[in-house]
Amino acid sequence: MGKLVIANNLTLTYENNQVIKTANFTINSGDFVFLTGISGSGKTTIIKSLYGELKPHSGDLRVGEFNLFNIKKSKLAILRKHLGIVFQDFKLIPEWNILKNVMLPLLIAGVNKNEAEKLAIEYLSQVKLSHKADKYPAELSGGEQQRAAIARATIHNPVMILADEPISGLDEYSASLVMDLFIKANKKGITIIIASHTIPTDFGIDFRQLHIEKGKIYELA
Ligand SMILES: Nc1ncnc2c1ncn2[C@@H]1O[C@H](COP(=O)(O)OP(=O)(O)O)[C@@H](O)[C@H]1O
Ligand SMILES: [Mg+2]
Repeated sequence: MGKLVIANNLTLTYENNQVIKTANFTINSGDFVFLTGISGSGKTTIIKSLYGELKPHSGDLRVGEFNLFNIKKSKLAILRKHLGIVFQDFKLIPEWNILKNVMLPLLIAGVNKNEAEKLAIEYLSQVKLSHKADKYPAELSGGEQQRAAIARATIHNPVMILADEPISGLDEYSASLVMDLFIKANKKGITIIIASHTIPTDFGIDFRQLHIEKGKIYELA
């Protein structure tokens, strides 16, 4: 499997707060990675750097063919079309119903509306939300919103899914459903990176653990 992410002496800072210090790690296509560390260790910071929201302060960061050090806006938009991003607070569009939220990446990719709708209906059924298609995000529980967010993050068949604390705050049932969806996506070949303070016990597939401590990244599993 090819290398999808390469970080070489990567330093990430906010003004003069150095959060990640000369980190070195690689992620291969098809990996399932948990990014762990205590609160404030820099998990979100790394996730942000991987979708180009936070520029490296120094060092190299490559995602696929893209060098994130001085990536142009137009290139960043292309990179993001190949990613699926899942947030702890879902970030669904409140004014749009669930079906349209799930269609979003396809509409951005220029897929025609009928095609997009057909596929979104299929993905909503996979995440067991067919009956909520015409509801708005505020009308769904947290677990249901996160399932919709994952349908949205996978519908365009991304190369990689970045998920920041996707199950914290969800009940046990929703959390395990959500994890199953990540496993399913990974079995289709999608690389998964999940920032999480814990790893579910008896996790069903092989995974890697990159642990952040005091600005350094260690491979634990
Ligand atoms: N926008 C920001 N400006 C300044 N400091 C920040 C910002 N975001 C996060 N930090 C700081 O960076 C460190 C790492 O934060 P974060 O990546 O959010 O940690 P985690 O996700 O592991 O809880 C923390 O000390 C946090 O206070
Ligand atoms: Mg965080």
